[in-house]
Amino acid sequence: MARHVCPWWLAYTFDNPLRRIFHKPEEIFFPYLREGMTAIDLGCGMGYFSIGMAKLVGESGKIISVDLQEKMLETLMQRARKAGVAHRITTLLCEDDNIGIHEAVDFALAFWMTHETQDELSFLQQVHAILKKSGKFLLAEPKGHVTAAEFKKTLSFAQKSGFNLIDSPIISLSHAALFEKNGDKPQPAPFFGLKE
Ligand SMILES: C[S@@+](CC[C@H](N)C(=O)[O-])C[C@H]1O[C@@H](n2cnc3c(N)ncnc32)[C@H](O)[C@@H]1O
Repeated sequence: MARHVCPWWLAYTFDNPLRRIFHKPEEIFFPYLREGMTAIDLGCGMGYFSIGMAKLVGESGKIISVDLQEKMLETLMQRARKAGVAHRITTLLCEDDNIGIHEAVDFALAFWMTHETQDELSFLQQVHAILKKSGKFLLAEPKGHVTAAEFKKTLSFAQKSGFNLIDSPIISLSHAALFEKNGDKPQPAPFFGLKE
């Protein structure tokens, strides 16, 4: 599919107060996040999920929010200050082909952004490298932009990068997959059916 990076102004079409009807961060992340954890929000946009995750990791936790666009990160921090969680969030302006962090994280999120990366396999290998052993990685792609066949290809790249697919959570408007990092070597890629 043609690559297209979501411009900051377009983000308001889905990242607005109505989004809570479809995506409740506390429900989506409750099974994976605990007090004190460090989590990364890749392609965080204006921070809808970074702020939700910052509430779940508590005062001793930390969220690293990474995006290509400075305007996204600026808006995220304004919102985080309003929500009283700015001190739990660190932002990082990354390069297109380089996440640019070396800190190990307990949980990684790539929500509606993997299809925008230049090289999905390289991106997923970088996510694998920064995750702690047994860390979880939630990948969600928008059904409106990504076909089931394209998502399946992304899953195969994730498995090639060493991730084990452990669940296919139901998330509104999304194809979603939960991965676990079990070791440093890529695992054989078993077939997993997708929940539609
Ligand atoms: C459709 S938006 C989704 C934003 C956010 N995850 C959400 O669900 O509200 C995709 C975001 O990914 C970012 N992005 C695209 N390619 C990226 C890359 N290679 N590295 C980091 N961020 C990227 C874009 O700048 C944009 O903010």
